[in-house]
Amino acid sequence: MDNQSFGIGILGIGSCLPERVITNYDLEKMVDTTNDWIVKRTGISERRILGKDEPAYKLGVKAAKKAIDDAGLKPEDIDFIIVTTSTPDYLTPSMSCIIQSEIGAVNAAAVDINAACTGFIYALKIAEPLISSGCYKKILLISCESLSKVTDWEDRATCVLFGDGAGAVVIGAVEKGLGIVKTCVGADGSIGHNLTIPCCYMNSSDIEKRTHENKRVLWMDGSEVFKFAVKAMADAIVKVLENSNFSIEDVKLIIPHQANIRIIDGAAKKLGISLGKMYTNLQKYGNISSASIPVALNEAHDLNLIEKGELAILVGFGGGLTWGSTLIKWNR
Ligand code: ACO
Repeated sequence: MDNQSFGIGILGIGSCLPERVITNYDLEKMVDTTNDWIVKRTGISERRILGKDEPAYKLGVKAAKKAIDDAGLKPEDIDFIIVTTSTPDYLTPSMSCIIQSEIGAVNAAAVDINAACTGFIYALKIAEPLISSGCYKKILLISCESLSKVTDWEDRATCVLFGDGAGAVVIGAVEKGLGIVKTCVGADGSIGHNLTIPCCYMNSSDIEKRTHENKRVLWMDGSEVFKFAVKAMADAIVKVLENSNFSIEDVKLIIPHQANIRIIDGAAKKLGISLGKMYTNLQKYGNISSASIPVALNEAHDLNLIEKGELAILVGFGGGLTWGSTLIKWNR
């Protein structure tokens, strides 16, 4: 791929968050918690939540339209759509098919993938060779999540953490030497039981763990996921740098998955870098699973925090358990 005459990068980017804001003070009225506890233990102050009858795909449609527009393209120019989600509105039709129809991307094939919060990084890993091989020219990646629909709103250990939202990018050929340098992904399914969202089946242990009458809610062993997350995030950053012969000093900005400020801080300490190198917006949105990274990337781009030719790392971890990192030389 090094001999390729072009790079593969982000041609356009967009995001969309629900309008409804749920603050920590709102949660104080719903469960036994305090704003102080949530801010200290997670860094989150508020999150955006869809209404009970609002579908998530509409967020994906808005994010996708913005990304296509930002790329200076039309929906008909898109030849493949990947949606990352662990909270689809329907299992079938897939979110990608629903969004394909809504935006009029009539020439695109469409598929959903699920790597939980690491979904966006996995989608980049899948999209890059599809472009470099000439299989597709313009791929639309949309990370679209509605964690509020699988949250037990009576469980203070999880309901304070999550939010809804969508981020999208168009991937295609860019100037040689720019764009995605390397993507590394991995998984350890043997510890997947630490974070579960059941769908069509659930084992007896998962039934017992849930106190809510609706058993299809998210359950998590927070401290086990926390330990995995700090190590996985730091290791994933080291791995992508080692695999591309760059050092952390070469990197302008890191866009981490927005789960908990203490996880991001822990990873920064392990790497010996300042927290200031890590972009965070979890204060406003909480953890929006796979949408966290593209939404944060969109904000960082709008704020001109990365300029053309500068290096950024996108890094995530999540259910599965999974992890992933992308080193990108910004091409915009
Ligand atoms: N308000 C007040 N007290 C609370 C709350 C709350 N909202 N939640 C838990 N507590 C209590 C606990 O009951 C416990 O009380 P006890 O000591 O009397 O038993 C105490 O606070 C400490 O609980 P811990 O679980 O040890 O708190 P911790 O500091 O580990 O923070 C948290 C919990 C925030 C969940 C943390 O473990 C975490 O962030 N884990 C990782 C979560 C994560 O990133 N998940 C995303 C995965 S991505 C995906 O794919 C969806």
